[in-house]
Amino acid sequence: MKGRGNHYSYNYSKALSEMARIANSTQPLKKILKVIAKSTTKALKAAGCSIMLLNSHREYLSHISAYGLSDLFLRKGSIQAHKSLPEVLEGKVVAISDASKDKRVQYPEVAGAEKITSILGVPIIQREEVIGEIRVYTHEPHRFSEADKNFLLATANISAMVLERDQTYPMLEVSLKEQTVSEQVPPLLPRPAIFAHPSEEEFVKLLDFYRIEWLYEPRSFPLEWEGGKITEMFTPDFYLPELDLFVELTTLKQSLITEKNRKLRHLKELYPEINIKLLNKSDYLKLLAKYGYGPLGQAKVKGVSRILFSHNQIRRKVRALAKQISHDYEGGQLVLIGILKGVVCFLTDLMQHLSIPITVDFMAISYYSGDREPIVKITKDLDESITGRDVLMVEDIVDTGMTLNYVLNHLRAHNPASLRVCTLLDKKIRRLIDISIDYTGFEIPDEFVVGYGLDYRGEYRNLPFIGVLSPEAFEREEG
Ligand code: IMP
Repeated sequence: MKGRGNHYSYNYSKALSEMARIANSTQPLKKILKVIAKSTTKALKAAGCSIMLLNSHREYLSHISAYGLSDLFLRKGSIQAHKSLPEVLEGKVVAISDASKDKRVQYPEVAGAEKITSILGVPIIQREEVIGEIRVYTHEPHRFSEADKNFLLATANISAMVLERDQTYPMLEVSLKEQTVSEQVPPLLPRPAIFAHPSEEEFVKLLDFYRIEWLYEPRSFPLEWEGGKITEMFTPDFYLPELDLFVELTTLKQSLITEKNRKLRHLKELYPEINIKLLNKSDYLKLLAKYGYGPLGQAKVKGVSRILFSHNQIRRKVRALAKQISHDYEGGQLVLIGILKGVVCFLTDLMQHLSIPITVDFMAISYYSGDREPIVKITKDLDESITGRDVLMVEDIVDTGMTLNYVLNHLRAHNPASLRVCTLLDKKIRRLIDISIDYTGFEIPDEFVVGYGLDYRGEYRNLPFIGVLSPEAFEREEG
């Protein structure tokens, strides 16, 4: 790179044609990405290159391929997207001349140990969205030229096309097909299916099913040294950021389990602050239960085909709603009204996060067939008067809007000072009566959902997440 003028264009065109050739081949994704990383490193006469993808919540970056970098550098820990060269994720090109002094480098000491001085990072953009980035590292201090930047952007574009085309992203396809309201349900971003063992892939499917965030092999822990050189390392299979937990899966071979146990004991001695678990198949099912999916005890809830919102997603949403409501009613008092029974989980969680004084009242209604047509009837009315008070009607789900319309008319007749509506779920697509909703948790597709208070014929209310009832469950009932 230093003062060799014409060589650059030669290097670039050679590297680009090499990358285009491999990208257009039938080689596996892993191989293609490796060639891209290598050609990029060589063309830029750099020390190394890494290709990274963002995780589903766009919080972390994971290396999916690299060249010229040590395992310890690549597995230095989770790379937080907002801490490590954050501007790249806004679509910008970032050039760092001295990694030891730049705040945008998340692990400066590891970069130092790797003798990295300058870094160039560019976004990988797919359909106008940043999905990851490519970074190039040099040992010598370097000022990256416009030509260097343009070349790396071309590399990123080739990578984006390869990743898009690759068929090893079934999870993305499934999630896009199944989830029609993708802006409400964060879609699972493409993740490289470059797992060392099929059990890891299986574990990932399970984590994705429950929408538990994961990172694959983000960190290596040195275990043994000889004369300053690392002679033994341990790289746990997964890191689950929400649980701050490393997970190592075991195969069924006892000999391997014993060896892993030894390494794990050693790791715990050296890194007592690290939370790590060695899991066999039945263990990881227990882990899921501990995480909040207690009633399961098995991989899938009978009758639930997929999880729409995890316990954590609901919790976050409820907190956000409560914050907004507390802000809007600041200095006032509020009467919360819920209709039994579906709203119990939502209402009790919501009120615990409200910072304004409140009272709570419940109504119960029943739908029953009158002489000519089905009618809705109030079977339990309010205990307290709402006249002249600020009222918030809290609903679990609004579907056609008929129930809510009926109840709102009933409440308006009592002349409250104000009357607003908050619903956790909104099946807007099915609306028959146009009702204005002031606070909505999630908009959901036209599917029958259960859990977190919502039932199907009295069942499933106790599930700590919201899931879609499987067609078999209907058939079982009806058949
Ligand atoms: P609406 O009167 O059509 O708006 O229906 C609202 C009521 O229907 C809710 O309070 C629920 O009791 C029930 N409901 C509608 N959709 C679902 C669902 O997907 N799961 C469970 N209950 C539902």
